[in-house]
Amino acid sequence: MPIRSRIVGCGAYLPSRVVSNDELATRVDTSDEWIQQRTGIRQRHMAADGEKTSDLALAAGRAALANAGMKPEELDLIVLATTTPDNTFPATATKVQAALGMTGGAAFDVQAVCAGFIFALSVADNFLRVGQARTALVIGAETFTRLLDWKDRGTCVLFGDGAGAVVLKADPDATPQSRGILSSHLHTDGRTYDLLYVDGGPSTTGTTGHVRMDGQGVFRHAVGKLAAAVDEALAANGIKPEEIDWLVPHQANQRIIDGMAKKLGMGPAKVVSTVARHANTSAASIPLALAEAAGDGRLQPGQIVLLEGIGGGLAWGSCLVRW
Ligand code: UT7
Repeated sequence: MPIRSRIVGCGAYLPSRVVSNDELATRVDTSDEWIQQRTGIRQRHMAADGEKTSDLALAAGRAALANAGMKPEELDLIVLATTTPDNTFPATATKVQAALGMTGGAAFDVQAVCAGFIFALSVADNFLRVGQARTALVIGAETFTRLLDWKDRGTCVLFGDGAGAVVLKADPDATPQSRGILSSHLHTDGRTYDLLYVDGGPSTTGTTGHVRMDGQGVFRHAVGKLAAAVDEALAANGIKPEEIDWLVPHQANQRIIDGMAKKLGMGPAKVVSTVARHANTSAASIPLALAEAAGDGRLQPGQIVLLEGIGGGLAWGSCLVRW
């Protein structure tokens, strides 16, 4: 029997400070009207001074473990997706490992920016499928606002901080109808580097740098590339778009989310959208949305849930789950 990775718990953490569009408009030349019209964003959460990515990740990870009814010592693996690590090294995942009191197994970071959670989930799923781990904590955590240039209104209004996590458990006796991750499909195209990057880093400037984005350029790629990754997922599983119960997309822009829903013929009632309240939290956006929709009972066992996301690299992908 093939092994399948089942999602057995979800958790989330948002920093307490909420920053409205109106507050941003006192710092940069923007308006609540522009931000809402172009993106759907109304507010974002921002980490407090001294609050690090590992703090956010730990809180979300603990919540996911509690939701799964599991203890840290039952974990074999932590995979943490982040673009904003506490330090250049070691991996932020190792800080979470230590803080959880987990002394065995392995913990490492994955970097695929806004597609990070899809990549991390796929990596952990593969560890479980080949039997190299039986359980995994997969976290997306970002203090993305630390990378923003507050003089660039084209980017600084778009992002927020937060963390979300899921716990995976291997089901060694899976049948085709079993719950769990059905497939994931990952892509990158390094030729599109210039569309979205940070202009710093240890081996270029020795500084952290700031986000630089050609917003329209990213937008032009987004729906087409995501739709192709979704088509791949559906074809690999012999599933039709109308069989998808929930779309849980990366939360960058409501217009991109609506474009994907339209392509799939899905009404807004089947789409989990948190972008208005969270803004774009990069690798954290999908697990934050999952934790919300699982927590309020929208996601029900056996339903087909489609995850997708795109970000810097460009890196993009999809993941199909029987919840
Ligand atoms: O998760 C990672 C992936 N990132 C994305 O998915 C982002 C994809 N792109 C987008 O979401 C959109 O392109 C943006 C929200 C970034 C921008 O929306 P847009 O409709 O593409 O606007 P634009 O860049 O074409 O700018 C239109 C106008 C410009 O003014 P002019 O040249 O027409 O006079 C900008 O200077 O809006 C101006 N503008 C602003 N105005 C008020 C740009 N940013 C702002 C702002 N407030 N914050």
